Amino acid sequence: MPRDDAEAAKTELEALNKVDLAAALATFDAPWEPRIVAALNGQEVKVVKLRGAFVWHRHADADELFLVLRGSMRMELRGRTIALGEGEMFVVPRGVEHRPVADEEAHVLLFEPAGTVNTGDAGGPRTVAAPERLA
Ligand code: NI
Repeated sequence: MPRDDAEAAKTELEALNKVDLAAALATFDAPWEPRIVAALNGQEVKVVKLRGAFVWHRHADADELFLVLRGSMRMELRGRTIALGEGEMFVVPRGVEHRPVADEEAHVLLFEPAGTVNTGDAGGPRTVAAPERLA
């Protein structure tokens, strides 16, 4: 490839960075306020801290993946509860009402379509419509 293209490709590669999830989580304390750490193929990877119980809600058009990085949580569904420990994950199918709960602080990775709002159809004061992008 021409020299200029090679230089451009090199610059592009140098702009790529790995994501340190623990470092990202260390930049904030507030629970239930996701931060975006990566975006790919129309999806976003977010990190969030869970403390206590969130609001019941559903996402009409989005499946939502929860991966526990630290601590433990449970995903309450109407009529069923799934306990998740470190290294375990669960996908809440679109349309299914759910409420994440963590008795003690838990750190969680989310993977879901870009623009998915944390409170889904419930809205309310805990809604973070435009999460901060950390990386
Ligand atoms: Ni949700």
